[in-house]
Amino acid sequence: MYSIFTSMKVFSDPWVGHPGLNRLGMHNKRVKAAQAISRFRRAQTVRPRTAEERHLDEQGFVAIHDFLPADRFAALRDEAHAAVEGAASETPLPAGPEVWGFGDSDRHGWGFDRFDGSTLNRFIRPGPQAAAFARNPRFRRLARIVTGKAMPVRRNWLYQTVNGDEEEIHDIQREFHRDTFFNAMKYWYFIDPVDADDGPFVYVPGSHLLTPERLAWEQKKANAAVHARMKGDRGGMTGSFRIEERELARLGLPEPSAYPVPANTLIVANVFGFHRRGDAVPGTRRLSLYGNHRPQPFIPFGS
Ligand SMILES: [Fe+2]
Repeated sequence: MYSIFTSMKVFSDPWVGHPGLNRLGMHNKRVKAAQAISRFRRAQTVRPRTAEERHLDEQGFVAIHDFLPADRFAALRDEAHAAVEGAASETPLPAGPEVWGFGDSDRHGWGFDRFDGSTLNRFIRPGPQAAAFARNPRFRRLARIVTGKAMPVRRNWLYQTVNGDEEEIHDIQREFHRDTFFNAMKYWYFIDPVDADDGPFVYVPGSHLLTPERLAWEQKKANAAVHARMKGDRGGMTGSFRIEERELARLGLPEPSAYPVPANTLIVANVFGFHRRGDAVPGTRRLSLYGNHRPQPFIPFGS
C-alpha cells in the first residue's frame, strides 16, 4: 500500500497495478494529487520571472543558447573532452547492443555504460567544472520551476550518447512517451553542437499540462497497464506510458518540435510532457552534462 504514496510507477507493483484500486480511479487520483502538490511546493520556493522561466513553465521545456559565458564554457568543454578521451582509452566504446529495451549498467572506474536498444549511453563522473555547473543559480531556479524542489548536485553526469542502428535493435527512447506520472525534470547542457542527424531532443510543447483530455488518456493507459498485469504481459506494465504521434492531435496538442542546438545550449524539460530522442544517423554522437531530477511526488514541502 505504501508504494502508492511514492514515485513508484510500474504496474507490476502489486498496489500501483491493483485492479480494484484502479477501478476506483486510483491512477488519476495519484496524477492529480501529484500535480497539486508540485504546484504547492513551487509556490513555496520560486515564481517564474524571466522569459526563459515563463517559457519552461508554459511550454514544458526551454532551450537556452549561450548559457555560460564563453570562458566558462571553454573550460568546461576542455574538461569534458579530456574526460571522454580518458574513459575511451580505459574502456573503448563497446561494439554492439545487447538486449531489447534497457540493458544493464556496465560499471567502470570512470562511470558506466548502458544500452537503450542499439543506442549506447556512456555516463562519466563529472570533473570540477561540470560539478560547478550543477550549482549555477540560474540553472537551479529552472529545476525548482518544474518540481518545486532543489536538484541534488550529485545527480549530474557527463553523458555521451552514441546513436545505434534502428534496423538492428529498436531504441524505445525514440518513441513518444512521458517518463512518469508527475512533474519531473531532465536537463542536457550540450558541450558539442547537436545537428539534425545527431538525434536531437524532440518535445511536444505544452504537453506537460494536465488537461481533461490528458487525464482521460492517463486513465485509458492505466487501464491497459492493469489489464497487461492480469495477463502477465511484462512489457505492458511499464509506467512510462507511450503515445502514438497521431494521438497527440486528439489530445489537442501541437506538432512535436526537434531541437538541434549549438554548443553551450541548455535544454530543460518537464518529462511529464511527451518527448523522445530524435532520429539519428547510426554512429553519430552527442555530448552533454545531464541530470534527472525526480523528487518524491507526495512530499508537500518545497526546497
Ligand atoms: Fe524520457
